[in-house]
Amino acid sequence: MRTLILGIESSCDETAASVVADGREMLSNVVSSSETFHHEFGGIVPEIASRKQLEFLPAVLAAALTQAGVTPADLAAVAVTNGPGLIGSLVVGLVGAKSFAYVHGLPLIGVNHLEGHLYANWIRLPDDTRPEPALPALVLVVSGGHAHLVWMPAVGEYHILGRTRDDAPGEALDKAARLLGLGYPGGPVIDALAKQGNAKAIDFPRALLPGSDDFSFSGLKTSLGHYMRKTEAGGRATVPDIAASYQEAIATVLVEKLFRAAARLEPAQVVLAGGVAANSRLRALAEARAKKDGLPLSLPPRLLCTDNGAMIAAAGYLHYGRNDFATLALDANASLPLV
Ligand code: KG4
Ligand code: ZN
Repeated sequence: MRTLILGIESSCDETAASVVADGREMLSNVVSSSETFHHEFGGIVPEIASRKQLEFLPAVLAAALTQAGVTPADLAAVAVTNGPGLIGSLVVGLVGAKSFAYVHGLPLIGVNHLEGHLYANWIRLPDDTRPEPALPALVLVVSGGHAHLVWMPAVGEYHILGRTRDDAPGEALDKAARLLGLGYPGGPVIDALAKQGNAKAIDFPRALLPGSDDFSFSGLKTSLGHYMRKTEAGGRATVPDIAASYQEAIATVLVEKLFRAAARLEPAQVVLAGGVAANSRLRALAEARAKKDGLPLSLPPRLLCTDNGAMIAAAGYLHYGRNDFATLALDANASLPLV
């Protein structure tokens, strides 16, 4: 019999729920975003995000079950993100998951959001016949809040090799979009605009931080600010040129650092995860580099890079197999560490 887990994700501006079978087969995937309500502010307003979570959650949960064609009685457990993220948003999903688990007599599983992103690589869409990622794996989780380079020797085991010293790559893209007047979130808009621009138009700085697996993107953001002020009058480069050059600086640093570490550590698998892993230029560069270096690369399907409930259900399946259940006292932790 298959093990069906309901995954609930509410750590930021997405309210998401999904039913996944055996940590691999996605039966439903419902994502409702409050994104448009934050547009005019150029970034997420936590109070609006948590209020929208409360508004969206009941319908999202119901739709996830209906889409999957299951009832609560078919489920084995409820997995929920309990951190890191915005505390108000996390609490809404957590209370929803606890109530659901209690009412239906199901075990509850707490999932770290970053572990969830990572497990998006274990989910297979219907026409996807790729093998499961091999271990040990070298994983780069890049999102709006994080850049973590992680060594994963075995299932559920993580060693953080490096992290961002300042801005996360998604944050750097979002801040650039704000400077360029492109609204929030910036990543997808910059990704699209960059396709019409010249990535060589502006030589933005690339902080490779030799000898360290850490990342830094604040210099890049500052450099864009300088560029904008300097060219205010003339404006030599077009917005697509700026977007393409800026995105190129981020993607090349991420790929270079990931594959330099891979050359040193010789993993069986290189893995990308997180919202920024949806970036088409980053995916293309990473695929080309993996081919050149002869390393197998795992990329989540694009729709599972950004926040979703399926990745939480997939990670929850790992904990389910280990009888790693939470009590109803499980707390939300805005800065929950991966390890
Ligand atoms: O993982 P995620 O949904 O939420 C966090 O855990 O932070 O990531 C959101 C981030 C945002 O900064 C967004 O701009 C970025 O991922 N993002 C992208 C793309 N789609 C989303 N960045 C670059 N290219 C994309 N296509
Ligand atoms: Zn995320």
